[in-house]
Amino acid sequence: MNAEALSLIDKLSIEHRLSAEEYEFLILNRTADLSKLLAQRACEVRNRIYGNTVFIRGLIEIGNFCKNDCLYCGIRRSNRNCMRYRLTDDEIMDCCHEGYALGFRTFVLQGGEDAQNSDERICALLRRIKAAYPDCAVTLSLGERSYDSYAALRQAGADRYLLRHETAVKSYYEFLHPKEMQFENRVRCLKDLKQLGYQVGCGFMVGAPDQTVRHIASDLVFVQEFQPQMCGIGPFIPHKDTCFAERAAGSAELTCFLLSILRLIKPNILLPATTALGSIASDGRERGILSGANVVMPNLSPSAVRKKYMLYDNKISDGEESAQCIDALKQRMKTIGYEIVTDRGDIKL
Ligand code: 5AD
Repeated sequence: MNAEALSLIDKLSIEHRLSAEEYEFLILNRTADLSKLLAQRACEVRNRIYGNTVFIRGLIEIGNFCKNDCLYCGIRRSNRNCMRYRLTDDEIMDCCHEGYALGFRTFVLQGGEDAQNSDERICALLRRIKAAYPDCAVTLSLGERSYDSYAALRQAGADRYLLRHETAVKSYYEFLHPKEMQFENRVRCLKDLKQLGYQVGCGFMVGAPDQTVRHIASDLVFVQEFQPQMCGIGPFIPHKDTCFAERAAGSAELTCFLLSILRLIKPNILLPATTALGSIASDGRERGILSGANVVMPNLSPSAVRKKYMLYDNKISDGEESAQCIDALKQRMKTIGYEIVTDRGDIKL
């Protein structure tokens, strides 16, 4: 194995940080053997903190109306072929009810940036969920909002917030997004969320169009500086109705390599084996866990709307991706030596 790459893995294991150039070197010089070693190290540090447990989150896709027009995303506003929907508060409560019975103790409310998701609406919904399920954590993933809005949602009971930074490089952010979306605002949101006491998740796509290894190295440096409690990464997968319909998908292999690096950057980070990883490879989630991930987020949305939340082509939503099939997922995790646990799954400090 490449001696320099090996010494970088040692350095990362001990210091939990590298320079952008060093990350670039590791990524460019990765081999099957190196990835295996890195995954072993990642699993060791994760197991020391979390044992062989995997946390579950019930993902409720509350609506796909979105005012944004991100070039890569299937629910972008200019996609006329997207069948729009919006769950009612009662429908969302029903999802929580069903999820609770299945053992979920975290609900993730995810949706497009929809003006109907006013502070009033979401705060009332949060209070309802928290009153009915005081032992559950609620995670929001509703995009960019103002400081005051994040403060109100936090006050109303939101515990966590997922907002992928998408990329840490401003020029590349501008390539992936329409000009009304600004990198600075994205970063402002993440900082506000952290300051308000949310457990915060950032993240990025792997293998997005024109993404370079240098871009990815910058994302890793961003994570090591920002120190989020969570980080969601998954391969880019083209969607037929977007500008990037003809672009190649990212790989499960590089995604897993990066999961291992993220685990070593922040040993206690909550790291999901994402739906995109499960969509690109049938054994994607297992490979994610074996690379250092410790979270899976099965879909709790009503089956009637699941196919409408199509961020990319062939996004999985049935089978073991669905919350209802939690037993099958448990079995798959058991097969690789891991155990799904039923608790809030907070970060261990
Ligand atoms: N492929 C993979 N991930 C995607 N996302 C959006 N579109 C795609 C795609 N085509 C991710 C983005 C976004 C999250 C909701 O889903 O990173 O933040």
